[in-house]
Amino acid sequence: MVDVLLGLQWGDEGKGKIVDYLAPDYDVVARFQGGPNAGHTLNIDGRRIVLHTIPSGVFHDRPLNLIGNGVVIDPCEFKKEVDELTQTGIDLNKKLLISQKAHLILPTHRMLDSASEKSKGAGKIGSTLKGIGPAYMDKTGRNGIRVGDLFSDNFRNRYDQLKQKHLELLGSAPQDFDLQKMEEEFWQGIEVIRSFNCVRGEYFINTQLHQGKKVLAEGAQGSMLDIDFGTYPFVTSSNTITAAACTGLGIPPTSIREVIGIIKAYCTRVGGGPFPTELTDETGELMRKEGHEFGATTGRPRRCGWLDLVAVNYTIMLNGVTKIVITKADVLNVFEEVKVCSSYRTGHEDSHQIPFDINTASIIPQYEPLAGWKTNHSMKSADDLPGSLSDFVRFVAEKTKTAVSMISIGAGRDQLVVL
Ligand code: GDP
Ligand code: IMO
Ligand code: MG
Repeated sequence: MVDVLLGLQWGDEGKGKIVDYLAPDYDVVARFQGGPNAGHTLNIDGRRIVLHTIPSGVFHDRPLNLIGNGVVIDPCEFKKEVDELTQTGIDLNKKLLISQKAHLILPTHRMLDSASEKSKGAGKIGSTLKGIGPAYMDKTGRNGIRVGDLFSDNFRNRYDQLKQKHLELLGSAPQDFDLQKMEEEFWQGIEVIRSFNCVRGEYFINTQLHQGKKVLAEGAQGSMLDIDFGTYPFVTSSNTITAAACTGLGIPPTSIREVIGIIKAYCTRVGGGPFPTELTDETGELMRKEGHEFGATTGRPRRCGWLDLVAVNYTIMLNGVTKIVITKADVLNVFEEVKVCSSYRTGHEDSHQIPFDINTASIIPQYEPLAGWKTNHSMKSADDLPGSLSDFVRFVAEKTKTAVSMISIGAGRDQLVVL
């Protein structure tokens, strides 16, 4: 059976930490979409490690880790990640497999991403500029190159043809890129990918399932960044919801058991696009400071605001969430009072739904105030939670009609209370 773990907000909910915590219970941890736009932070023995393409189960002995067909891989970024992990003493070759059907990000995809953002001017998406959009465009446009193609004789030709097509689209190679250097890194990265076990991922994972093995599917980004259901066009270029675990791994929907939805106790977003509960005042500034809210991939400051249960209920609906994990509760320690948005006021109406025109609608979030927990003491079990934090958890569970299974109270691996 498969459990799916994914973010219910705009990304960076702390998925990496929770996957790392749960991984020893699984035989396989598999990424199913996205690419190096993701930054999943793990804290291992006081060291901060950020994973972009590699699943967050690699720091344990038990699970094998699969990069699924739904992922787009940049060989340059992948090599950097492999080098960093190898330096920490991890033997990745034994525990990482790559689907032959995963698509590659070419250096010119990154150039196209940058050109697309520039052409949008003030309306830019705020992309991580990792080439994600252009790579998925080539996938759906049926021009893409896949990991399995690396082993064929005409790979170089295929690469040259696609690169040429991109350069024609661009008009000329943009001056702010050193394409030659990017290509050198690309070919080194290709050799690194070749050295891994590149498998028919869909057969691998279904064989595991038939043997009764347990799979954890690790989502990237967040459901509000989903290409269909997110705040389009301010979204990423893949489906990020539970359904994508099926298409991004080749597993049947009937194999999915639990869907674990991760939320922060507040909310963040990086890049452009609507964010109804955003706080542009000193409260938001304090959240950013306390939560160290700076992008794990780009270092950009993240926009901060109160927890938005209209958005969370929407993504619980889309994903079929069976359990919620709340992260970063400790970040709100500084507040006497915390707020939670339970409806949107548009005009004279209060609504519990995300409007189609969320990008342009004037939305006034309706908040319910709750007492802050103002606590610094360490908590190991549900009994240690201060009353106001228990009340917050109960409030979220009631308003979402979903059980809260864990609460994370620090970035460290064990700073987690199982409820
Ligand atoms: P992901 O993309 O969903 O894996 O999340 P990121 O790694 O981008 O961002 C989450 C950040 O919060 C990372 O820096 C984590 O180390 C950190 N973090 C995770 N859980 C907690 C928590 O409970 N408390 C605090 N203070 N930090 C946390
Ligand atoms: P993880 O997995 C937060 C955002 C970008 C931008 C938009 C499109 O770490 O939660 P893209 O590079 O995909 O073209 O960017 O999506 N974005 C993320 N925001 N966390 C992520 O991943 C993100 N991946 C993409 O900031 O607004
Ligand atoms: Mg992240």
